[in-house]
Amino acid sequence: MRRKLIAGNWKMNGLRAGGAALAGGLAEKCRAEALTCDFLVCPPAHLLIPVSEAIAGSGIALGGQDCHTGASGAHTGDLSAEMLADVGCSFVILGHSERRADHGEGSDLVQAKALAAARAGLKAIVCVGETADERKAGRALEVIETQIRQSLPEGAGAELVVAYEPVWAIGTGLTATPADVAEVHAQIRQLLVELCGAGVGDAIRILYGGSVKPANAAELMAVDNVDGALVGGASLKLEDFWAIGSSCP
Ligand code: PGA
Repeated sequence: MRRKLIAGNWKMNGLRAGGAALAGGLAEKCRAEALTCDFLVCPPAHLLIPVSEAIAGSGIALGGQDCHTGASGAHTGDLSAEMLADVGCSFVILGHSERRADHGEGSDLVQAKALAAARAGLKAIVCVGETADERKAGRALEVIETQIRQSLPEGAGAELVVAYEPVWAIGTGLTATPADVAEVHAQIRQLLVELCGAGVGDAIRILYGGSVKPANAAELMAVDNVDGALVGGASLKLEDFWAIGSSCP
């Protein structure tokens, strides 16, 4: 039984006061209620320490939004997986479509970053997903399969997380239909079993991401092989993020 993971990707949003208050509000709710899912927040780098303080003892996990492949060195502006672990992160998002698009990150680099994450003891959330044009051309499954084959680190364990995020659904208000999500997640599951063996392949959590909100969360979280959500915009609103977590069966 895979416990659902509800991950908040804050992206490049939030200043100190608001970030700590948002994380603190979520922590308060988590401390007060028995949770049926795992919560994770991935704030921008300058908020990692205040957010880690705000969520201490709440059961909420902390994650980074990217990491470098190296442990340290002359890489201006980068953060290593070891640095993320040092401030209390246990997860790191890798290969998000915004990094693939804005920074030209290819799957080979994502794979090297996933190995760096494992080296530092972080659980990688490897993101994959097709563009609108690729879906229109009937190439969605092929694109996703190639991204997974090239992005997953060799020797991946059950702690790895895969996030399916159709690029056209991110921040647009458009969501994949439950039938499309079911089709893609079933294919990802099959591929994970092929690549990692039945035990690990069945245990890896597959998240859906792309305009997840309270109004569609219950329907999406009930789909086979959907083991949680990677939430952008709605993770910046406490009540919405909490409602998404509460909609997990
Ligand atoms: P969204 O972003 O929920 O705002 O669509 C999801 C993501 O990019 O992780």
